[in-house]
Parts: sequence; structure tokens; C-alpha cells
Amino acid sequence: MTAARIRLQINHRAVEVVAGSSVAAAVAVAQSSPVFRRSTTGQPRAAFCGMGACFECRVRIDGVGQQRACMVPAREGMQVISDE
Ligand code: FES
Repeated sequence: MTAARIRLQINHRAVEVVAGSSVAAAVAVAQSSPVFRRSTTGQPRAAFCGMGACFECRVRIDGVGQQRACMVPAREGMQVISDE
């Protein structure tokens, strides 16, 4: 049995993930060294806790900024922008 898959866009590139994956997982699939956002000094930041506590995984999802990627399920057609 093959798991259902969905397609979404990460920084304007199509990514396919298993249905039920988080947006954080999709960003990790899309980038070899995932960068979710940049600090105020420009340092790359990535998901750390994976449970909504650290806020390091914030991205823009469907035009709404500051979304915690680890807390949002990936959906078909979603548009995600990170500070790659
Ligand atoms: S990884 Fe910590 S809030 Fe998302």
C-alpha cells in the first residue's frame, strides 16, 4: 500500500510529501540545509523543537506571515515562503 501524497510549493518550487506531513517536514524535504527564517542579524534559523514552543520555524503560508511550520499540516496547493 502506498501512502497518499500531496503537492505544495516551497519558495515557488513544487514539493511532494506524504499526506499528514507538517509544513516543517515539507520545508526539510525541499531544502538540503533548511532555512526557515533569519534572525535580526541575518543568521539562518531552522526548526528546533518541532512542537510549537521555540518559534524558530516561522514561515509565510498562503500570504500569512509568522506561521509556525511545525504546527501546520501541509495541504495540497499550499504556498510556503521561507527566508531561504
Ligand atoms: S520548531 Fe519550534 S516552534 Fe516549530
